[in-house]
Amino acid sequence: MYRTHTCGELRIDNLNQNVTLAGWVQKVRNLGAMTFIDLRDRYGITQLVVEEHSDTTVRETAAKLGREYVIQASGKVIQRSSKNSKIPTGEIEVAVDTLRILNASQIPPFTIEDNSDGGDELRMKYRFLDLRRNPLKKALILRHQMAHEVRNFLDSKGFLEIETPYLIKSTPEGARDFVVPSRMNAGEFYALPQSPQTFKQLLMVAGYDRYFQIVRCFRDEDLRADRQPEFTQIDCEMSFVDREDILTTFEGLAKHLFRSILGKTFEGDFPRITWHEAMAKYGSDKPDIRFGMTFNDITKLAQGKGFGVFDSAEYIGAICAEGCAGYTRKQLDALTEFVKKPQIGAKGMVYVRCEADGSYKSSVDKFYSQEDLAQWAAACGAKAGDLLLILSGVRKNTLSALCELRLEMGNRLGLRPHDQFAPLWVIDFPLLEWDDETQRFYAMHHPFTSPNSDDSELFDTDPGKIRANAYDFVVNGVEVGGGSIRIFDAELQEKMFKVLGFSKEEAEKQFGFLINAFKYGAPPHGGIAFGFDRWCALFGGADSIRDYIAFPKNNSGRDVMIESPSPISEAQLEELSLEIKTKE
Ligand code: AMO
Repeated sequence: MYRTHTCGELRIDNLNQNVTLAGWVQKVRNLGAMTFIDLRDRYGITQLVVEEHSDTTVRETAAKLGREYVIQASGKVIQRSSKNSKIPTGEIEVAVDTLRILNASQIPPFTIEDNSDGGDELRMKYRFLDLRRNPLKKALILRHQMAHEVRNFLDSKGFLEIETPYLIKSTPEGARDFVVPSRMNAGEFYALPQSPQTFKQLLMVAGYDRYFQIVRCFRDEDLRADRQPEFTQIDCEMSFVDREDILTTFEGLAKHLFRSILGKTFEGDFPRITWHEAMAKYGSDKPDIRFGMTFNDITKLAQGKGFGVFDSAEYIGAICAEGCAGYTRKQLDALTEFVKKPQIGAKGMVYVRCEADGSYKSSVDKFYSQEDLAQWAAACGAKAGDLLLILSGVRKNTLSALCELRLEMGNRLGLRPHDQFAPLWVIDFPLLEWDDETQRFYAMHHPFTSPNSDDSELFDTDPGKIRANAYDFVVNGVEVGGGSIRIFDAELQEKMFKVLGFSKEEAEKQFGFLINAFKYGAPPHGGIAFGFDRWCALFGGADSIRDYIAFPKNNSGRDVMIESPSPISEAQLEELSLEIKTKE
């Protein structure tokens, strides 16, 4: 046996026991007569002590130890003279009588501490060392627990976990596919699934009416803190359900995770808001509702007073920052600079201070009377001491800039604490999205999403207005999941393809297998998929999903540890009938 206990296990109750531990050397402190060794494994740290009267070989071995050496130590558990209340094993130490170096280690390129001195890239290159650090260990343990609870819950509700293939044919879901050349079928390619969407629908046709899978998905898209090229979904589908069944079932899953992982309970149902309301009030389809500061449309109130910027705007929106009338010139300038950043894109910002004496002071006093400003304040529900921040321009862009400003104010005012959670459902998304560049509609979710039955007339008259039977699960401004009730009627599916600009032949070529399956008794069905990495990061209080994935890619989609992607050999290219064209 290499060890009798782990390094996180021993307590005062184990006093006088003879134990053997194995692990990594976190730290060696040589105090002349005595040497203290912090021994670490997955479970914690235990202090070893080599005393003056210890065996010579033990003392000699201890003198050779360096950081991250792998050792095995045996000895008696004794009480520590100076206790460390910060660690669970802090009351005891092991007086070593046998010490063995199992493996030496080079000096690690960064410190294996909670706050490491290693930069991002370096830690990514030595990910196996980074994973020894507590914050990453905690993240992976949380991930494991979440996966476990997801399986527990869904199993208890009769869901079957069924795997679907990774080498598939392109499914149209917005992002680019990663493709894999086929050796046996020269010139042909598999695509890695962006999600198991079509397979889970086929499983419904096959009668497996409650399916789930914790599954890897692949999307070749621009990366951000909450996006990885390969990520994991909790993918689910159910038959004989309507939207209400899906929302209830998966609200149950969410509540189960909140309770079992974080010990948080929620009274009543999660709020639901329509996509239109979310856009108008928060400028986002994934609103952070931990705080208010919702948008007020003051377009009508603010136009016609000679202020050209507002008069020519399609939309003028204001948010009310409570108690912020005292913001200094410098603070207001900083906010103006913030909204003018290219990625936010506002041209400028107008403010109105609601002074304590009931008067108003604004950056547009030249154009607006006190009565005008009082009307704006009333429209925003502002009181003395509050500050109005106003943006204007093209509606869509202004809503999105105002959204960023609202979130920024939320951060500045400490209204977005990581340990407070505000889940909600966003429903009634538009079915279609018009793209000016290609002059066609795209499915906002995917082409199998069913329209709201009240809107089917609009297919022929105003397709852009059709609401989808689709929903997103949002927590703290993060889109954690999304899904829809599917089309299961061949005629309706044909209509959908038509409005998306597919000819009958094209639709047949891309989705023939699904259209065909639907001819053999497809049940009504619908589902949802949750971004598992995002959910873990959210519960862990992190903005980036990277540390909740054992071996993630960097922002250019590279794995710098294994150096991937990388060129392949001429022989491999030959075998795959591929030729690399060098770009000019
Ligand atoms: P959707 O495309 O909305 O739906 O994806 C579901 C959830 O997956 C997460 N997600 C990501 N997480 C990390 N990195 C990415 N690149 C990434 N892309 C998406 C998000 C998102 O809400 N087949 C449908 C689901 C359905 O209709 O049932 C689908 O994939 O949290």
